[in-house]
Amino acid sequence: MNTNLTFHDHKPGALSLQDAVVNGLSKKQKSIAPKFFYDQRGSELFDKICKQPEYYPPTIEQSILSENVDEIANLTGEGRILVEPGAGNAVKVRLLLNSLLPSAYVPMDISFDYLKSVATHLVNEYPWLRVHATCVDYTHSLPIPDLVPDGPRLLFFPGSSIGNFERDEAGQFLSMIHEAIGQNGMVLIGVDTKKNETILNAAYNDEAGVTAEFNLNLLLRIQKELGMDFEPDNFKHNAYYNKDAGRIEMYLVSKKKQTLQINEHSIFLEKDEQVHTENSYKYSPDEFISLSVKNGFEHVKYWTDDNSLFAVYLLMSK
Ligand code: AVI
Repeated sequence: MNTNLTFHDHKPGALSLQDAVVNGLSKKQKSIAPKFFYDQRGSELFDKICKQPEYYPPTIEQSILSENVDEIANLTGEGRILVEPGAGNAVKVRLLLNSLLPSAYVPMDISFDYLKSVATHLVNEYPWLRVHATCVDYTHSLPIPDLVPDGPRLLFFPGSSIGNFERDEAGQFLSMIHEAIGQNGMVLIGVDTKKNETILNAAYNDEAGVTAEFNLNLLLRIQKELGMDFEPDNFKHNAYYNKDAGRIEMYLVSKKKQTLQINEHSIFLEKDEQVHTENSYKYSPDEFISLSVKNGFEHVKYWTDDNSLFAVYLLMSK
């Protein structure tokens, strides 16, 4: 056991999955929250989405980070406690570690098995780094383990995950971050921009069908964990940019009239009825800066690529 690595379990129980799924599927507009995508298989599929040529955010964000990491480190200073909600495969943080030299790294993820394997690789790669891996649903809380030393914090939230919150929830999440990082806290956050719909529609409908598989895996997960009775082939993926709302909307479409059985609950679906699984909001820099200022931050600086496809913002607690 590596002494630089500790684990903290705040994982929600299986009951919350059943409650959320049954409640969501009992509404007029059926829905399942996107946080349920990320079981072990879902996290692997998301990594695969990030390698699809149409899904530009990870590549562009990584080049923004690597081109500007020295300036970022100058602005944040070294030795902060680096907190990353939804750390996933922790690929992007590797671009920062050697420049920011954090005194501790707190990756948070909802998938404990995935978090364990990622954190274990990380401490082997960076023998000087203390890692406090925390399994949590970060949409509800950002618990910093007691073992984490005092000191200024930097919260890293890449990948435009803020886009998966509704606009008012995104504001509430920014205030929750504000509270979690405390005085002198900073935030480095990646946010997808508004742009041409063809680029956006292609990003969520990749040729190889990985996004479709990721979306459909949600049903397979429910089947595995809750014993739902259904035929996966009876659903298809649908994702498109809703320009008025400024967001990608993603659905699972029922190909026929059918009934899903989840324990004692029967869920009826009409042919072509859609189960909403994700919104992915896009923000112009003005919109995002004004949202962060409303929720307790000062805007320090933002960086973007030549085509303004993606933006990375540095914010400071007010
Ligand atoms: C994690 N999140 C920012 C991704 C997005 O783009 O909204 C999830 C995703 N869904 C389909 N493709 C990627």
